[in-house]
Amino acid sequence: MAKLQWGMIGGGEGSQIGPAHRLGALADGLFDLTAGALDHRPEAGREYGQRLGIAADRSYGDWKEMLEGEKKRGDDAIDLVTVATPNSTHFEITKAFLEAGFNVLCEKPMTVTVEEGEEIVKIAEKTGKVCAVNYCYTAYPMVRQARAMVANGEIGKVRCVVTEFSHGHHGDATDAENPRVRWRYDPAMAGVSGQFADCGIHALNMASFICNDEVVKLSADFASCIASRELEDDAMVNFRMAGGTVGRLWTSSVAIGRQHGFMIQIFGETGGLKWFSEQPNQLIYTPVGGRTQIIEKGEGGLYPEAERLQRVGIAHPEGFPLAVANIYCDIAAAIRGEERKDLPTAEAGARSMAAVHYSVASAKNGGEWVDARPPMFR
Ligand code: NAI
Repeated sequence: MAKLQWGMIGGGEGSQIGPAHRLGALADGLFDLTAGALDHRPEAGREYGQRLGIAADRSYGDWKEMLEGEKKRGDDAIDLVTVATPNSTHFEITKAFLEAGFNVLCEKPMTVTVEEGEEIVKIAEKTGKVCAVNYCYTAYPMVRQARAMVANGEIGKVRCVVTEFSHGHHGDATDAENPRVRWRYDPAMAGVSGQFADCGIHALNMASFICNDEVVKLSADFASCIASRELEDDAMVNFRMAGGTVGRLWTSSVAIGRQHGFMIQIFGETGGLKWFSEQPNQLIYTPVGGRTQIIEKGEGGLYPEAERLQRVGIAHPEGFPLAVANIYCDIAAAIRGEERKDLPTAEAGARSMAAVHYSVASAKNGGEWVDARPPMFR
């Protein structure tokens, strides 16, 4: 089977997420990196692209040049473009590439407004192209195992979900002007929300993903612990799911001492599950009245949805870039026309945008309970 051609926008040298995409997309021999507009500085982007092995005529200075250049190539154009730029650019780039007939993997948050999120859902439906959002934590094998265990009734009806995505890496007030930190709290670059849109939506999406249920209403409390920040760096969001599950979510970027800090616990009528991103190969399972057990990746006996994602033997760490690689595997399959129900789509991206916006509104109104769903899914 021929490799698919892959292009990247953003993710330039020194960026946070760029390397994880390159390691992930290239891990399984499914894609070749053949085009890119990698940096907001055209020359730096062209130069870095060529160092990564992209041909000079496809190492573009900016995404518009890349769109035109790739359109002209007809059948020899990229099969997939990844959008890994700061948030405020996602909508414009994703829309333009989808409308031109390209498949897109967009970084989260997919857009900045709810309306834009809904528009991307409609364009993806209309064009029939793959439009995925990089909720890559959902692609860890033991997260897929948790989802399968819930779906197969192993913990009974889910009563409650508690999740945290709290780190301390933006907790130094004297580093608040660092260019890699600052845009995340600048409404012009990040949108209406800082930490919740940056990390909290991973946690909220994960709750929906594992429970296979949608968040329908929420109540939020936001704070800027570093007072100079216009957007929140700490948030607590209470939510309810369509099936009645109670949800609690805490996200913070000033939790000094927390490293990555993404944790989810699912409490059902007959058992509980816990997954922690810093120990991603292990899923903790407690049956009601029974002993707590560790379900370990590589030990065998997992559900097929989890089993197929394992690559290296038991006890060898399989971390973040390979979770991203699992997303790319699912995208490659989807591009080739196979159904991939676990792939995070534009719908998940739009639901997150609604949760972000309505959380901001709720926080401004003293934590008032609000509908969390985008109007198109009410
Ligand atoms: P960063 O600030 O470290 O890097 C951004 C990169 O994009 C830089 O190379 C910059 O030169 C380039 N860039 C900026 N504007 C551009 C433009 N108009 N055209 C081409 N290149 C452009 O940012 P980071 O942390 O890599 O975040 C990028 C995106 O990835 C954000 O939307 C962020 O939310 C998301 N992200 C997702 C993660 C996940 O777990 N899925 C983890 C980290 C970031």
